[in-house]
Amino acid sequence: MAKKEIKAALIYSFATKKTSTAAKLIKDNLKELTLKEIDAESINANDLEAFDLLIVGAATWFDGELPTFWDEQIPALEDINLKGKRVALFGIGNQVDYPEHFGDSIGLLADVFTSTGAAIIGPTSTEGYTFEDSKSVKNNQFVGLMLDFENQHNLNESRIKSWCNQIKKEV
Ligand SMILES: Cc1cc2nc3c(=O)[nH]c(=O)nc-3n(C[C@H](O)[C@H](O)[C@H](O)COP(=O)(O)O)c2cc1C
Repeated sequence: MAKKEIKAALIYSFATKKTSTAAKLIKDNLKELTLKEIDAESINANDLEAFDLLIVGAATWFDGELPTFWDEQIPALEDINLKGKRVALFGIGNQVDYPEHFGDSIGLLADVFTSTGAAIIGPTSTEGYTFEDSKSVKNNQFVGLMLDFENQHNLNESRIKSWCNQIKKEV
């Protein structure tokens, strides 16, 4: 299949273990797209306006927060204009140890990217997960793909495959 003429970026911290592993699998499942990889620890926010699709991943840390390097990126991200662009989010969390803040990271990122005017694509069902609360559930769905390496590692590949197929249809 010919690569679609859309400009897409895959944004995650290159220094992470599980988030990087997920990003690699996502890239393998989206071979139809030309994806530019961007390290989330050194984003040049203005460069993002050139892309049609941003695929952004982050783990949740510190009881419901983004990893600290995101705090440095977010003010600049809130100033860019992504109207007409799409953002797909993938999150990593642990539903057994952090059931009250399961995978909050992508809910927080959804708020940031929604404020830029972007449309968030790729919501998924909460079925098959057990948790009490998550900032990433909006309209009874996760705002993106949710992965739990510690407790449901064996489901990662199928969840990623199915989400990537969904993204291909939504772009
Ligand atoms: C100190 C600490 C705090 C965490 N807080 C949360 C949390 O609030 N919610 C959650 O879903 N997972 C939480 N986690 C689990 C991480 O998101 C999980 O271990 C993830 O796989 C780490 O991914 P990474 O290796 O890409 O950073 C926490 C883990 C640690 C060690």
